[in-house]
Amino acid sequence: MATEKKWADGPFKLLSTPRSTLNGKEESGASKNASEMALIHNILLRGLNCIYLQAPNIQAPQDIQDFMLFCDAWSCTLHSHHKTEETVYFPLLDEQCKEKGVASKNHDEHETFLPGLVAFDKFVTGVRAGGSYDKEMFKKILDDLGPKLEAHLISEIGLLDELEKDQGIDWDLLGKAMAQHSKKVADRVREVPFLITNSDVTYESGIHGARFPPFPWFVSQILRWVYIPQLKGAWRFASCDDYGVPKSLPFA
Ligand SMILES: [Fe+2]
Repeated sequence: MATEKKWADGPFKLLSTPRSTLNGKEESGASKNASEMALIHNILLRGLNCIYLQAPNIQAPQDIQDFMLFCDAWSCTLHSHHKTEETVYFPLLDEQCKEKGVASKNHDEHETFLPGLVAFDKFVTGVRAGGSYDKEMFKKILDDLGPKLEAHLISEIGLLDELEKDQGIDWDLLGKAMAQHSKKVADRVREVPFLITNSDVTYESGIHGARFPPFPWFVSQILRWVYIPQLKGAWRFASCDDYGVPKSLPFA
């Protein structure tokens, strides 16, 4: 199991959820939102670890192209998550908070790693278009982007947790608005399979269960059958299999 979960050891650390410390206590709305957010952030962090750990060892042209598809799917998932936060979740949270400014704080934090993400996207697009796979350059891009993104993904959970004392916030409404919008806009070919194959249903002793993709089981099964095969080569680089169960990385 230790080898299978090599990606869980970093370099980017997974977030523990507030839910894992409840010990039978009732879960508050703020805590639930923070936990759900941490689970999504962990999908992004697992993906980033898979990229970081495998990037130096990929050589064959077909492997490079498939790896770039995986990197593109990771980036697509990250862009989509942050767009939903900036257009739906944080503006709605800001309206309800006593203390104003959470939406602009979130936006400012996104800005800190945006240049790194632009460089990442440019690199991936270039290699997919036939450019050379320059491992040194890719490592520099990851070394710049990774720690800034990680810092933001950690800080956002703290921000939600701290708002627990604000009684005016309808956490249920916020959670539903985020989930509904995400489901509506999720890219079926890249984002949905990325969420499934990096979700780790065993995380924190399996207390969260299988929640990605966030659809009823039969819809999820159809998504699995129809969309995962479309970029099948890309999901070799993922942390988990088609059911979110951890697997080993072929190039780490
Ligand atoms: Fe987030």
